[in-house]
Amino acid sequence: MKSMEEYRAHFPIFKNTVYINSCSYAALSIEVEGAFLRYLKDRHEVGADWIDWCDRLERVRALFAELLSAKVDEMAVTTSASASLSAISSSLDLSGPRKKIVTTDLAFPTEAHAWHALKKHGAEVVHVKETDGMIDLDDLDRTVDENTLLVAVPLVCYRNGALANVPAIRDIARKNGALILVDAYQGVGAVPIDVSEWDVDFIVGGSLKYLLSTAGVGFLWVRGDLITKSEPTQTGWFAQEDIHAMLIHDNIPAKSARRFEQGTPSVPNLYAVEAGLKMILEVGVANIRAHVAALNERLKEGVQRIGGTLKSPMDPEKHGAMITVASKDEYALVAALAEEGIIASCRDGNIRISAHFYNNNDDIDAVIAAFEKNKHLLA
Ligand SMILES: Cc1ncc(COP(=O)(O)O)c(C=O)c1O
Repeated sequence: MKSMEEYRAHFPIFKNTVYINSCSYAALSIEVEGAFLRYLKDRHEVGADWIDWCDRLERVRALFAELLSAKVDEMAVTTSASASLSAISSSLDLSGPRKKIVTTDLAFPTEAHAWHALKKHGAEVVHVKETDGMIDLDDLDRTVDENTLLVAVPLVCYRNGALANVPAIRDIARKNGALILVDAYQGVGAVPIDVSEWDVDFIVGGSLKYLLSTAGVGFLWVRGDLITKSEPTQTGWFAQEDIHAMLIHDNIPAKSARRFEQGTPSVPNLYAVEAGLKMILEVGVANIRAHVAALNERLKEGVQRIGGTLKSPMDPEKHGAMITVASKDEYALVAALAEEGIIASCRDGNIRISAHFYNNNDDIDAVIAAFEKNKHLLA
């Protein structure tokens, strides 16, 4: 296996910058760049290659399945996490007594929107609060009841990096007979996911962050025995049992999770996603988690040494790849870091430092030095 430093050499951005912003968008590898170029070349040489595009869609589906240790038939390839969430929300049955959807104050907006949009169909949406930056499990336990249809949680919060305790949350949902959905976008590729271990109902995410590729491709995993019971009304011809049937007098959804898809796949982006996923699988998510954890221990120690305030949980088991640091003016601090050649991002008063396998100790030391230089912007 290549060393992490050897992989780093595949990301040209490190020639000029300290890129530590994978929670926003991954660095671009030469493989993903090459995949995009290949798409353009194929267009010049072959034109419209629908057979290849459909094969590519299936290869990407298989790679997503491998990533989650899932069955291929349980994976849908969508165009964004939002599209995945909308397809799921369109499949929920609100006709029975279960009308409550429980989300959290740590939700990414798009996840909450999917449920609030269902209020016009009778859904009641309840937000569980956060305590010390984590989902408050006592509040969750009090809130989820026999009228709860779905519990939705982010695996890693986009604002503070908190990592959810999925088994504990699942148990609360299950004992009340509710479905459970995990928005894994801020974790997938950096936090190992095994659908059998989690035993939840839905997982959604996308490919532009820790999966190394691009906007335009999301995914959705659905538990096998739920698939044919689910009838998404957000649908289309790529969701049909036979894509080529061209039927217009009925809607016959696929027996697999493909029923959650809609229209023409995001073809140029599938090229890129295939390349990104292959590299993530080659490096191994468990190795990535261990590498990033070591970097983050160095980062947390450095931030504390210079008097900064960490907004992510201290316990390495309770945060994902992203570490957040409080700032008096987060936009000014992002700009000050950029002056030092460091690319990071911010949300909600915090700077987000999000390392991946291509980052190293020198990157962390550069971030700490830049924080020290701009101490007046730390809160
Ligand atoms: C946790 C989480 N969920 C969902 C999204 C939105 O994904 P998309 O733009 O693919 O719908 C993001 C984007 O940052 C995110 O961080």
